[in-house]
Amino acid sequence: MKLKNNHTIGIVGLGLMGSSIAAALLINGQKVIAVAPIVSKIDKSAPDRIRHSLEECYSEGITTKRPDELLENITYTSDYIGLKNCWLVMECVFENLAIKQEVFKKIEACVSDEVIITSNTSAMPISMLQNHFRVPERFFGMHWAEPSYTSPFLEIVCGEKSPITIGEQLHAIAKEWGKEPTLVRKDIRGFITNRIMYAMYREAFHLVENGYATVADVDRACKNDGGHWMAFCGLFRYMDLTGLKAYHAVMKDLFPELSNQKTVPKLIDDIAKADGNGIFNGKGFYEYTPEEAKKWEETFEKFSFDIHRLTSNYNKTVANISSKKFTE
Ligand SMILES: NC(=O)c1ccc[n+]([C@@H]2O[C@H](COP(=O)([O-])OP(=O)(O)OC[C@H]3O[C@@H](n4cnc5c(N)ncnc54)[C@H](O)[C@@H]3O)[C@@H](O)[C@H]2O)c1
Repeated sequence: MKLKNNHTIGIVGLGLMGSSIAAALLINGQKVIAVAPIVSKIDKSAPDRIRHSLEECYSEGITTKRPDELLENITYTSDYIGLKNCWLVMECVFENLAIKQEVFKKIEACVSDEVIITSNTSAMPISMLQNHFRVPERFFGMHWAEPSYTSPFLEIVCGEKSPITIGEQLHAIAKEWGKEPTLVRKDIRGFITNRIMYAMYREAFHLVENGYATVADVDRACKNDGGHWMAFCGLFRYMDLTGLKAYHAVMKDLFPELSNQKTVPKLIDDIAKADGNGIFNGKGFYEYTPEEAKKWEETFEKFSFDIHRLTSNYNKTVANISSKKFTE
């Protein structure tokens, strides 16, 4: 089946990610139908947040189009029926199965059978979610990163019933949106990055909870080691660049000693149960005044534009270096 891409994309849920994805699509020439069925505080602020992201993209040179011009391509509604002319609908609501199921049903009731529906789920298996659809083959994972308008990251995930040929078309279309997408051909919980990142989170908790290092030292070590090369290359390339044999030697002794804890760490459990939500309410692994939280948020946004510029330049350079095995 050839996808009928009419460049009109629906987004359901205008929280942090939904609005960030809307901005990413707008700067890449798509029309967006933005559906906020629950008019919560975060959804109400979505138009302002999207405008702000577009203004930043314009002033940072990521787009040459002015925000007002781009905003002509977005329609806000609370009614699912607004999705009827979309070729693709992205679900972007809470990471909660019952809520996602209810939302899938409402989306499917409003669109024709050939419309593709995706979920931005962080870790729910696509094959499991797929079974909640009348037409399961239309469903894929489309996992974005925050901020979606600067990050080149996008994971397209096939479920057991999603045809790989459609996954490949979505992958090609995502490239047209300025992404460097990955295609997960066989469904696995957590996909690529969350499996890798959560292995790191687990080890980070292990080190802190067992008194080997403080939260701040673990953060410092990650930022100054992995943080200095991960935007340049991936894990396998890094092993090639720094001597594969050394990694081979270390793995034998270190792997058996890494944490394989199966339960949620007490450190995050205690904070979450006391309603801590990081910069969003000032209570996380660190504490924040409202002013500090705002500064962290603004600085992270500025950093994301700078790193986007830096990696775009280096991507052009490395694209010209030949490398045969295991490349696309
Ligand atoms: N935050 C991230 O960095 C990130 C990264 C990748 C993926 N994700 C995933 O993206 C999805 C959304 O996450 P977020 O961070 O934007 O969350 P969020 O809390 O900012 O927004 C959640 C949205 O869900 C909507 N919603 C809640 N109940 C609903 C219902 N019954 N019907 C319709 N809409 C409803 C809310 O109104 C809100 O717009 C989740 O699946 C999350 O795991 C998040």
